[in-house]
Amino acid sequence: MLRCYPISGMFHQKSTARWSKSLSVSLLSPISSTTFHSQSIKSSVLPTNRDSPLTGLESVMVDYIFGKKKATEVAHSVWKHVIQKGDTVVDATCGNGHDTLAMVNMVSETDKSHGGHVYAMDIQETALKNTMSLLDASLHPNQKEIVKLFATCHSEIEQVVPKGATVRVVAFNLGYLPGGDKTVITKPETTLLGMMAASRVVISGGVISMLVYVGHPGGMDEYEKVETFACGLAVDAWICCKLQMLNRPLAPVLFLLCKRRDRFDTKRPNADLGLQQLQYQSKKDLDKNI
Ligand SMILES: C[S@@+](CC[C@H](N)C(=O)[O-])C[C@H]1O[C@@H](n2cnc3c(N)ncnc32)[C@H](O)[C@@H]1O
Repeated sequence: MLRCYPISGMFHQKSTARWSKSLSVSLLSPISSTTFHSQSIKSSVLPTNRDSPLTGLESVMVDYIFGKKKATEVAHSVWKHVIQKGDTVVDATCGNGHDTLAMVNMVSETDKSHGGHVYAMDIQETALKNTMSLLDASLHPNQKEIVKLFATCHSEIEQVVPKGATVRVVAFNLGYLPGGDKTVITKPETTLLGMMAASRVVISGGVISMLVYVGHPGGMDEYEKVETFACGLAVDAWICCKLQMLNRPLAPVLFLLCKRRDRFDTKRPNADLGLQQLQYQSKKDLDKNI
């Protein structure tokens, strides 16, 4: 059973689950033509349409390269680039609510002309309370209406998001709750199930954003699982890349998994092969309680 929290007031139990300074920018799928060249960025030669996941992101990328912007800020800029007012998005690890807040501001307007939907979840009550407080303090009442918070694991994304919803972005910010209990962390096996679920709900042209921390126990294992998953996504359906500081080995790594526009066909025999293999592996891991 999923618990959905209203943004303000008492917690309620919902019974209906359905409602309820060296840098590497590497592509994880072998698309040689999509290499990122930092020195040759000139806005005049960049494509002007929205086909490239990097279009319009020049300044934040350059600031990241020169250590002036964090991976989180790059992630937010990428979301902003793909999200349109009225969209549905998912925060798979709402934590202290900063990502949820950013998403609400991206999908909504205070005058309610573009509603949008933000589904946010976390397994910790403290995290949900922190998120609620931040949203209460920061949002217009109209905007608060579009957020639904769920006390659940992100492997349950498909139970949280209404069937048929067109989800533009699913964001994971892994690891532990800043300022909270550092022993409660995201786990590779449930993260993997969450990524699989995200890959099914996100629409063509949408993005799965994964911010991965490697400095805590278990972090490197999770990083490897995320990377393996991203590498296994079919190249004709996904563009997968990661941003990583090479001489700051504990800096968070940003993975961006962009679902190609209008070319994804689940009937293609090999399109989901990598996913199926990972799913099988993940179920085996869960059974063994690894
Ligand atoms: C780094 S924090 C997230 C930060 C947050 N996005 C923000 O903007 O403040 C990671 C969060 O993931 C949550 N978490 C751990 N395992 C989870 C799971 N299986 N499903 C959903 N959330 C989980 C933790 O409770 C923690 O709050």
